[in-house]
Amino acid sequence: MTASLPIEIDSNRQPDHEINPQFLTRWSPRSFTDQEVTEDVLLSLFEAARWAPSGSNLQPWRFIIARTEEHRAKFHSFIAPANREWCEKAPILTLVISHTKTPKGSNNPSHAFDAGTAWGYLALEANNQGLITHAMGGFDRDQARVTLQIPEEYELHAVIAIGYRGPKEALPEKFQEREIQSTRRPISETIFAGGFGITL
Ligand SMILES: Cc1cc2nc3c(=O)[nH]c(=O)nc-3n(C[C@H](O)[C@H](O)[C@H](O)COP(=O)(O)O)c2cc1C
Repeated sequence: MTASLPIEIDSNRQPDHEINPQFLTRWSPRSFTDQEVTEDVLLSLFEAARWAPSGSNLQPWRFIIARTEEHRAKFHSFIAPANREWCEKAPILTLVISHTKTPKGSNNPSHAFDAGTAWGYLALEANNQGLITHAMGGFDRDQARVTLQIPEEYELHAVIAIGYRGPKEALPEKFQEREIQSTRRPISETIFAGGFGITL
């Protein structure tokens, strides 16, 4: 077993306005150690996701977890090669899906929005507990649907790699230079005042 690396905030990841540091210390590394994620810890991440808000409290998110060799191999079979190369070391993979229908059978307009909120909660709780997460949209959705026998009424969103952070040197060389924390555009380009495109 190896210990996770300490979480540090990079100099290009400074907020313009004061916020809880959890939003800055969460990022998406690719290097995982082989440290096991205990069941207690694993379930606590999904407990955080459980308390996400959702339209009409429908909680449309579902998570399919792979933590055994057999289940992880199934996931590896549909993850894009460029992601598989680094995520094969992650001890936990989970697919985020959401139910697209309401209980009355109409389309639920907020299912994807809600599933995104739930994954965000999971990612922050993982970070708070010293774990790392890395979302991947690069996987074959059709193949995943067949392999995991997911009904048509569910939309597939992302595979999340979960575990403890390893050293960048443990990554294949081409990923080492990408093992850096990203920044964000200025908030002034993101929020508008009273109408689209109007600066606050
Ligand atoms: C829905 C989604 C899909 C993503 N897909 C991939 C992916 O296929 N491969 C990858 O290496 N990173 C992927 N990422 C990670 C993003 O590139 C990363 O979150 C973004 O660059 C911001 O960096 P940070 O998470 O380190 O703050 C994905 C993230 C999200 C939320």
